[in-house]
Amino acid sequence: MTQLAILGGEPAITINQSPYVQWPIYTEEEAQVAADLVRNHALSSAQEGPGPITELEQLVAETWGIKYAIAHSSGTAALRTALFGVGVVPGDEVITQSAVHPFNCLPIIGCGAVPIFADIAPLTMTLDPEDVERKITPRTKAIMVVHWKGIPADMDAIMDISKRHDLKVIEDVAVSQGTTHRGRMVGTIGDASGISFQDGKLTSAGEGGMFMTNDDEVHQRAATLGHYERLKTLPDPKWQAVSGFSFGEKYRMATITAAIGVVQMKRWKGRLAVRHDNATRLGQAIAEIKGFSMPDFPDYFASPYHSGHVRFHPNQLGSVSRETLLKALQAEGAQVSSPARKDSRIPHTAGLQRMLHKHPVFAGNEYGTDNILWEVLGPNATKVDYKNVTLPVTEDPEVPYDTIQLPSFTRPADELIDQYVAAFDKIATNADALATID
Ligand SMILES: Cc1ncc(COP(=O)(O)O)c(C=O)c1O
Repeated sequence: MTQLAILGGEPAITINQSPYVQWPIYTEEEAQVAADLVRNHALSSAQEGPGPITELEQLVAETWGIKYAIAHSSGTAALRTALFGVGVVPGDEVITQSAVHPFNCLPIIGCGAVPIFADIAPLTMTLDPEDVERKITPRTKAIMVVHWKGIPADMDAIMDISKRHDLKVIEDVAVSQGTTHRGRMVGTIGDASGISFQDGKLTSAGEGGMFMTNDDEVHQRAATLGHYERLKTLPDPKWQAVSGFSFGEKYRMATITAAIGVVQMKRWKGRLAVRHDNATRLGQAIAEIKGFSMPDFPDYFASPYHSGHVRFHPNQLGSVSRETLLKALQAEGAQVSSPARKDSRIPHTAGLQRMLHKHPVFAGNEYGTDNILWEVLGPNATKVDYKNVTLPVTEDPEVPYDTIQLPSFTRPADELIDQYVAAFDKIATNADALATID
């Protein structure tokens, strides 16, 4: 039996993985379109007429199968527009998840609205519909769903709640572009949505975002936030009459971003298919190995492999802990990580966990940050006692239980996948030896 690498054996994975995990993939074509815009002095879309921004909007609308797409300077700006478009106004409450970095929350505060945190479901790490319903008050205007890293939220239940309570639904698709829910692209199910084009996201162009909706009224209202040049094109004469004005800061995307986005979007379906094929091949093969399986995701999630999560069964693997299993796989060369709540940190902080209700903005700290949110929102916003908010699943350090995160391969990677499968196989075959590692 081959010895585990963590115990001094040879690693199972020997291929250089850098080219296979590279993302975003930019080429000379992006450099060329950017240079052309500079040479042509066409860096702003203030000039009227067709151009890269319109082209990118059309490509996104076609790809998502949605009626309206408006390009924005960031994903958060697109989400702010989505909230504004559905009519969120200062003082409203918007229910969203706490188990995330703050980006879903920022546009809610940007609207002068109050974020109300609901718990998540332990397997999907997306909003728990039952807790959402418990959090509804007479001031609730909308639910902001976050589809989490390729795992869709339970949109059947969320849409049902929204209908029964007359609430609007915004979908944050910043980290789940291309994910489907019962065959529908997420971002097309609620009243409005936003995606991000920030580098590293599944749609990338440096920075940028896209607001999307199928609703004529939501689209018109959304266009009046920071898109003053578009008002004259809206069908409602009320908006046309105030053309050249807007009800918020300018959120326009730069042409250079849009041009890069166009090149990216033209290749997007192909690139996503490669990632999905790799994820399916790797996930299915690992799930065949004793001691491993796919997480038991809900049936609305048609492509569970794409989340990159794999479940392990400690009782079949020498009672191994997640930490030891990860160390053993990493020693074999596998780029695996922990999706556990305790290991998920907010960037640019001194290691704060992704639990917004515990963030000093909401929970306060020894520097007296308790009132920061109310200084920003003003005295009329509901004062939530965030300190006493308890979200048991969000706070559970081990959620999602017995699960590890696989890398996503961005180029055809058959040989590398074979080596990964061999690494997992080696771990399973040496389960007894795992029990000796601490
Ligand atoms: C869940 C989520 N929502 C929204 C955003 C906002 O996107 P952007 O950085 O383009 O503003 C991000 C960015 O990381 C995100 O992860």
